[in-house]
Amino acid sequence: MNWLKLLNKNLATLKIIVFAACSFPALRLYYLYRGDLLGINGLETLLHTSGFTALMLYMLTLAITPLRRVLSYAMILLRGGYGKRLGDWNWMVRLRRMLGVFCFMYALLHFLIYFYFELDLEFGELWLEIRERPFILAGMFALLLLLPLFLTSTDAAMRRLRKNWRRLHRLMYPIGVLIAVHYLWLSKPGVFDAYPYALIILLLLLFRLLAHMKLIFVRDDDGMLAKR
Ligand code: HEM
Repeated sequence: MNWLKLLNKNLATLKIIVFAACSFPALRLYYLYRGDLLGINGLETLLHTSGFTALMLYMLTLAITPLRRVLSYAMILLRGGYGKRLGDWNWMVRLRRMLGVFCFMYALLHFLIYFYFELDLEFGELWLEIRERPFILAGMFALLLLLPLFLTSTDAAMRRLRKNWRRLHRLMYPIGVLIAVHYLWLSKPGVFDAYPYALIILLLLLFRLLAHMKLIFVRDDDGMLAKR
């Protein structure tokens, strides 16, 4: 049986595997925290792992649509059997919601770690912190914009909001810009760790723009690539 058909047929198993993989960083952090194994700069480890995992999950969620298009296009070029239609890659779309929800959960965990360990739950301190470390503001706006996407990630919300659901979820694009700004802005001079991730986010957003303008991967009604 074609592996792709197998994936489409075993979506429930795939979801359990992805759920476990997404939960692992948080479980590992909790284990290290409880065992006092976070190392000399425990807070940095907590903030780095939670922030970095949120960033990875954001990029994975945004990459689902381009990946489906590129992979189905590759199957056409390779004259593959199954996999030439976008629909053959629907199992990816079914995972997107889970990835998006986990992205919000890790961003929230990231904020709560910061709020608890750095601000001692003192909201009043937040303004002083923002003045000293303005990159926090970009992170806060990203988290605030992720909230309505999280709250409307249910089937009921999709049915209720209909076309407005797709419009609302276009917030994923400014969120990407805010996350990239947050990470680039906090980078210390001479440290370029954030640059490759900012570039990936930029390319994913560019892909969305070009696809939206129907300049790339235009599909006919059958989901096959349109003849130019
Ligand atoms: C209220 C929201 C947020 C606050 C207060 C916040 C705060 C912070 C702080 C204090 C740091 C550590 C900076 C340092 O190393 O000196 C940090 C790093 C980071 N944050 Fe955020 N952040 C927020 C939201 C987000 C969101 C929404 C994301 C991504 C989805 C994110 C991703 C990251 C990443 C990737 C790092 C760098 C980790 C590293 O390499 O050290 N943050 N954030």
